[in-house]
Amino acid sequence: MKIAFIGFGGVGQALVKLIRDRRQQLLKDFGMDSTVVAVSDVMKGSVYDPNGLNEDLLLETLATHNNLDYYPDTATTVKGMDSIRTIKETNADMIVEVTFTDVKTGQPAIDHCKAAFESHKSVVTTNKGPVAIAYQELAGLAKKQDVFWGFEGTVMSGTPALRLPFTTLAGNEISEISGILNGTTNFMLTEMEKGLSYQEALSLAQSKGYAEADPTSDVEGYDARYKAVILANVVLGTALQAADVTCEGITQLTGEHLQEAISNGQRWRLVARLTKEGDSVKASVKPELLAKDDPLANVSGALNAIIYTCDLAGPIMLTGAGAGLMETGYSLLIDLIHYQKQKVLIKR
Ligand code: HSE
Repeated sequence: MKIAFIGFGGVGQALVKLIRDRRQQLLKDFGMDSTVVAVSDVMKGSVYDPNGLNEDLLLETLATHNNLDYYPDTATTVKGMDSIRTIKETNADMIVEVTFTDVKTGQPAIDHCKAAFESHKSVVTTNKGPVAIAYQELAGLAKKQDVFWGFEGTVMSGTPALRLPFTTLAGNEISEISGILNGTTNFMLTEMEKGLSYQEALSLAQSKGYAEADPTSDVEGYDARYKAVILANVVLGTALQAADVTCEGITQLTGEHLQEAISNGQRWRLVARLTKEGDSVKASVKPELLAKDDPLANVSGALNAIIYTCDLAGPIMLTGAGAGLMETGYSLLIDLIHYQKQKVLIKR
């Protein structure tokens, strides 16, 4: 597997560490032999070596200079290729798309996915933009070009919220999905329940790295709404768009509201809820007042949780991290392993 990274922030670097540290295990368990051949980042520059880059050197170069121009040159290294050239012209067969997420336009990630698929290359990504905005189109293109598209990390990072219904729960009809899909707001609500003010709780969530670059997306519920759109399209097979999901954030909730709820044996949680109604899906993101013994009421801190209401298996709840560099890097590894398994299956 020859990998090119488009964007190379903390998540991409976490994946490189995983690939480096688990190389023998991945080879032994899955026959997965991967090489990073290219990295292209709009801020950090780019480097390509068709024979493979050295992972330690890559990480060291970034740690020391934060610029790939300092990666040691060899006879085969090429510098300065932009993202589209890196996708189209390198010998990579797997593109890891981890550029800055712009969920309003989905760009430039949508163009990156298209360029890859049109070049018969596979993509794994944690970028919510392309999946929330252009799922139907991109999934169709990937299928037509017979390439792989993995995006497990777009909902709940390394907690396998998307594969669970497809693999383990396969065969069930899912009538409802409900969940706490944003770590920042859940963390804030939990801290406000303990007495912190809204602003103190938000600053703490930002300092811990949970919040989006613009935390409006978290507190107004937009981040959870995009995840709800992904779930509707990918899991329920309904072509919902963000505008179809009613959305209310947590900005109107005060410490008094939260404490009053607790004294009444209840808890406020920001819940994304998708309900199947015939062929359509009704979806909302809003603060819900839950009884203290509701499973979602007991999800605290930055944790995420999702409940799939299945006709055969009943309600199944999955909970775990919804963010974090290593957790999100791991979500990319899950996708790469599934891609590898598929390749092996096809060869057999
Ligand atoms: N800001 C997001 C959250 C990050 O708090 O859940 C993961 O999408």
